[in-house]
Amino acid sequence: NPGSVINDDAYNNVSPSVAAKIGKDLHRCSAHPLGIIKERIELYFQKNTQALGQPQFKVFDDLPPIVTVEQNFDELLIPPDHVSRQPSDTYYVDAQRVLRCHTSAHQTSLLRQGEDRFLVCGDVYRRDEVDSTHYPVFHQMEGVRILTEEEAPARWDVSQRKEIASKDLKRGLEGLATNLFGNVEMRWVDAYFPFTTPSAELEILFRGKWMEVLGCGVIHDEVMDNAGRTGEVGWAFGLGLERLAMVLFSIPDIRLFWSEDPRFSSQFEAKTLTTFQPYSKYPPCYKDVTFWLPEDNFHNNDLFEVVRDVAGDLVEEIRLLDDFIHPKTQRKSRCFRITYRSMDRSLTNEEVDRLQEIVRGYITSRLDAELR
Ligand code: PHE
Repeated sequence: NPGSVINDDAYNNVSPSVAAKIGKDLHRCSAHPLGIIKERIELYFQKNTQALGQPQFKVFDDLPPIVTVEQNFDELLIPPDHVSRQPSDTYYVDAQRVLRCHTSAHQTSLLRQGEDRFLVCGDVYRRDEVDSTHYPVFHQMEGVRILTEEEAPARWDVSQRKEIASKDLKRGLEGLATNLFGNVEMRWVDAYFPFTTPSAELEILFRGKWMEVLGCGVIHDEVMDNAGRTGEVGWAFGLGLERLAMVLFSIPDIRLFWSEDPRFSSQFEAKTLTTFQPYSKYPPCYKDVTFWLPEDNFHNNDLFEVVRDVAGDLVEEIRLLDDFIHPKTQRKSRCFRITYRSMDRSLTNEEVDRLQEIVRGYITSRLDAELR
């Protein structure tokens, strides 16, 4: 019940437009681009392990997105003062629970229940920018594997066992990238995640640009301890499905994944990678708004959320045009340009004016800011 994520708790910051997305499960629709990519990744891992005579990866694709702060942050060693914990970045249901901001939130619980090789796929939630590649809900795929005693005997040096894990991880993920993108150039870049070490990101050269595909690493010893698996060695990776699907299907705007327009949905077929044929692009409508920031902590994400709540998927982008500090009073003012555009029809001027009026009203009443 999506309603239950909105409550009177002082920590609660889940907006209605986000709550409405819970349970949509786009990743479980076989004829949806996200479902197609997900199944393709699953198939890759199952084929791989079959070839090696190893047991299959267990797939978890319907774990509820409400998780504890421990699962999402603490057990993954994300420090108490890390930005991702701020209510400006994460949706809190209450002080103890959040809408998961990554599928890594399930790593420790699944390891604790004895799982050794699994894939987790699900919707994840982050307060973020408004543009063609950002949406407060997106989907991730996580993979975890613990090495067997045969592969990396416990009597061996830990660093040697981790080396084996790291090699296995990289080989598997390079194979995945080739499976998805064909014979592209790729490179490994060093990365940092609190819950893996060493950590890395895989990038591929796509249409002349290096594109990040996934993050991964050897699971941190303390994460293993937190999961009651002290002394074992394994790897984890995580990737965003939208980013991959946008490239693989040539989908130009992240809002399209949520479209119920048959001109979108009828283009896709289970297990098939196709090129999306855009239907005509409708005209945009720009509206600027300028306001004095409220005295206490204001975050741009607060404005983004208000506009999303009012305009839903009719908002395409919000850009900061001007950031001003009054030289005498030190008062701060910001000007934003909001681009309204529908994916499937032309908006009327009256309609956009009406939306903008409501947004302006909420800037005063909800954000406690003063319009200029
Ligand atoms: N959870 C990380 C993210 O969302 C990705 C990741 C998963 C990195 C597993 C390392 C291991 O960015």
